[in-house]
Amino acid sequence: MAADVADRVKECLRFTSRPLFCPASGDTPAALYAELLRRAMDHTMNMREWSFVGLDEWVGMNGEDAGSCRYYIDRGFFHPLNVPADRICFFDGRAPDLQKECADVERFIGRWGRIDVAILGIGPNGHVAMNEPGSDPAGRSHVSELHPATRETGQKYFSCHQTLERGITLGLGTLMEARHLFLLAIGEKKAEIIRKALEGPITTELPASLLRNHPGLEVWLDAGAAGSLSVAVMQKDKPL
Ligand code: PGA
Repeated sequence: MAADVADRVKECLRFTSRPLFCPASGDTPAALYAELLRRAMDHTMNMREWSFVGLDEWVGMNGEDAGSCRYYIDRGFFHPLNVPADRICFFDGRAPDLQKECADVERFIGRWGRIDVAILGIGPNGHVAMNEPGSDPAGRSHVSELHPATRETGQKYFSCHQTLERGITLGLGTLMEARHLFLLAIGEKKAEIIRKALEGPITTELPASLLRNHPGLEVWLDAGAAGSLSVAVMQKDKPL
């Protein structure tokens, strides 16, 4: 799946000389970043002109904190790719003025007009980035109160228990302006929330469902995550 998604990302950016790419952190997209990295190393994809904007961060953390969003992407992608600091804009969840942090990120995106490709995961409660159920569908970057399910599942990124109360995140409105949205999900544990997001009502109570209003949405699932869908799903090497 990582290779297929990387192919599609390449295709989407074919005519964009200096794209703005937004990588989610989390377990789901890790293989995609490894694949992009491999292609950068063997010169089958050129990411030298790409700029990057972070999707979200835990409030109280930044790249110095093992397990933070930035920490994961630094280790798995930015550092091995040698991305210069001035081509990355990422929420600093330790910043004293989080409103300014949000404004800075929105201003950075404004230099491009919009994000070209955003890679997104889905939370167990249907959150997208740290836009929890009930988030404003037109919202810009903001600080969010984390849902109990996010506080709990977020522990998996850390070696010891963390107090996860708030996040700082791109808003759904910011994301909906992106040219291409890639929603990725892997594994059976995502099957039920994927079914609700794709086949249930489009509702602010399930933020991922709102992405269906985006004409450039692509949903990439493995067999496990697609397992509860009632519709026929196109499978690689298997016609409908
Ligand atoms: P995961 O996180 O990729 O680690 O499952 C997704 C999310 O919570 O948004």
